[in-house]
Amino acid sequence: MRLALINRTGGLEFLEDHIRAACPGARLEYWPSDAAREAEVAICWDPPDGTLADMPNLRLVHSIGAGVDRILADPTLPDVPVCRIRDDDLAVAMGEYCHWATLWFHRGLDAVTRNATAGHWHRFEQRPASQVPVCVLGLGDTGRHVACRLRDAGYPVRGWSRSPHDIPGVLCHAGPGALPLAIADAQVLICLLPLTPDTTGILGHATLSALPPGAAIVLCSRGEHLDRAAVVTLLRSGHLRGAVLDVFPQEPLPADDPLWHEPGVLVTPHMSALAKPRRIVAQIAENLRRLDRGDPLLNRVDRARGY
Ligand code: GLV
Repeated sequence: MRLALINRTGGLEFLEDHIRAACPGARLEYWPSDAAREAEVAICWDPPDGTLADMPNLRLVHSIGAGVDRILADPTLPDVPVCRIRDDDLAVAMGEYCHWATLWFHRGLDAVTRNATAGHWHRFEQRPASQVPVCVLGLGDTGRHVACRLRDAGYPVRGWSRSPHDIPGVLCHAGPGALPLAIADAQVLICLLPLTPDTTGILGHATLSALPPGAAIVLCSRGEHLDRAAVVTLLRSGHLRGAVLDVFPQEPLPADDPLWHEPGVLVTPHMSALAKPRRIVAQIAENLRRLDRGDPLLNRVDRARGY
């Protein structure tokens, strides 16, 4: 089988050795090339629009990540199955990151770090986790794990998602109408939603200003969920305490982007949870075997739903 590695900005070489080891019979090509155009399977992160439509033998599009928004955004995406990665380790890593980011605000480490650079000793009042409600937007595998981890750490946890979920000890809300209620008392709002037309810009002025004064946000999903002008306005007005931002519409975030220096914003380099190359390739290899045998593919994306 011929496989093509496709990404707008390249950089998928890190998968090559793993693919050669896991799929010894496969031919691996890099886009852009005529040979890649002939491939039956596209292994992608962010394929430029029209690339997949220009592959006459294409039978499967496989994301190398949990998200498929960059793939589904191509209006010319051909009618072939799209699969994504599902990885329990990813949820664990996201749990660590979101727990850390929650502590960053809850224990005042954002302010303490600022004071430390000025050699200023000031002990802020400390509150127990039970007094710091947290809301998790997106209750898929990852969101569920994050919500349970924070619940187990003693935070009152609210969750919000498109469809109803039932998580013991987490107050779950569903549907657009329930968003204001879900976030009404959140001191920390964590966004783990898939990026779809419905969720693009969901963290805009209306949502962020509905948070209680002094709330903070943690963005680990996609940069496009956030209206950055709104967050900057609400940080500067003092309505928001801070923002830990791990994802951006353009990555890497350019070195001269003012967000790096916006008071209250902590930029991290899309590091919250990334699948390991071995895991990614094991799942792709399994789907290649299934494709070969005509068996149902794993982790197939519902294209209408967008994830
Ligand atoms: C990371 O952002 C992923 O979608 O796996």
